Amino acid sequence: MLQCLFIFFFTIIDASSNSVWFSTDVIHGRNLNEACGIDGTWKNDLGSYIDINCGDGTVFGSYRIPVSSGEDTYEFSGKYIVTGEDGKDRIVAFLVPWNNPKATGNSNSSTSYTGIYYNSERVIYAHWILTGYKKWASRWATNLIGHAIFSRV
Ligand SMILES: *[C@@H]1O[C@H](CO)[C@@H](O)[C@H](O)[C@H]1NC(C)=O
Repeated sequence: MLQCLFIFFFTIIDASSNSVWFSTDVIHGRNLNEACGIDGTWKNDLGSYIDINCGDGTVFGSYRIPVSSGEDTYEFSGKYIVTGEDGKDRIVAFLVPWNNPKATGNSNSSTSYTGIYYNSERVIYAHWILTGYKKWASRWATNLIGHAIFSRV
C-alpha cells in the first residue's frame, strides 16, 4: 500500500515539469526501476548470467557466458512492457551481439531473446534465436532456435 502511494506520489511530481525537490532524473530513476521489476542478476539453465538494468521501458546490461578460462561478457539491450492480470508480469526482449573485443572478438553472430517474466514463478521463460552469418547460398542455415529459463540469483 505504502509502495503504491509512493509510486502515485512520484507520478504526480513527474507529471509537473516544475518539480521542486528532486531533479527529474532522480525521480525517473526511482520510478522506472520500481515499475521494471526485472532488474538484477539472473542465471539460466546453461550456466549463463545476465545482469539487467532498466531504463524508460528499456533493459540493458551484460550477458556472461561460462568459458574454460572463466567468463566472457557481452553487452545487450532491449525493451520490456508491463503485463499480466495484476500488472506484475513483463514481456521482455533483448539482443546480444556476440562481439567482445576483449574476448573472442566479433563472432559474426547474435542472439535475440524474447520471453515472459512470470512474477508468480520468479522466472523469465524465454525463447531465443541465434543468427550466425552464412553466405547467401547457405542462408537456410543462418538461425538456431532454443529455449531458456532464467531464475534470479
Ligand atoms: C567474422 O567476419 C569477419 C569478416 O567480416 C572475419 O574477418 C572474421 O574472421 C569472422 N570471425 C569469425 C569468428 O568467424
